[in-house]
Amino acid sequence: MPSGPRRRPTAVLISGRGSNLQALIDAAAAPDYPAEIVLVLSNRPEAKGLERAAAAGLPTRIVPHGDYPTRAAFEAALSEALSEAGAELVCLAGFMRVLTEAFVGRWQGRLVNIHPSLLPAFPGLDTHARALAAGVKLHGCSVHLVSAEVDQGPIIGQAAVPVLPEDDEAALAARVLEAEHRLFPLCLGLLAEGRVSVEGGRAVIRGAPDAGGLIMNPDQRRPG
Ligand code: GRF
Repeated sequence: MPSGPRRRPTAVLISGRGSNLQALIDAAAAPDYPAEIVLVLSNRPEAKGLERAAAAGLPTRIVPHGDYPTRAAFEAALSEALSEAGAELVCLAGFMRVLTEAFVGRWQGRLVNIHPSLLPAFPGLDTHARALAAGVKLHGCSVHLVSAEVDQGPIIGQAAVPVLPEDDEAALAARVLEAEHRLFPLCLGLLAEGRVSVEGGRAVIRGAPDAGGLIMNPDQRRPG
């Protein structure tokens, strides 16, 4: 492989299906993608994402949280696995454990999460059901740097999708998930290229094009 710019060694932490992991694997398959996945770690042995990692020939580790008496002991095992793999960046891709302030502090600016809502709306769980119940017309996903408060760190990027009148939770979740698969590789790439900095608690992206135009639902171009 020709030697291009250095690819940042990146770990992906999962707990389940791993469709976002797959999107990152697919992006990192391009030789010019600025991050390389060096470890896929799951806290659940049955996580489907582990099969995706194995199929891609990536190193995997299982660190079952139940094997550790305390959160600190679990996180010490995580840290050890991450440093053994030489990870410089960490992606939370459906990783269903809340991390302590100490762990988050050690990885500050290098730990990113994907959340299925347009933060700060709908932090926490059941975001799609809550968006439907609230009657919002746009919903989506956010990739953010992780801070000690759950789903509150500086937002690197967001993708919006319309909420349609016939949507149920599954239909809306599927539309958001497609957006997640595009947003996460984009944002990890920006971070890996060193284009993300935090100023006054907000993420600032150097040299990234802004979305053009207005994102609107109902769409004025298609009157009903
Ligand atoms: C995604 O919806 C992600 O936003 C949330 O957990 C889900 C993980 O899905 N944090 P997958 O395992 O990546 O398919």
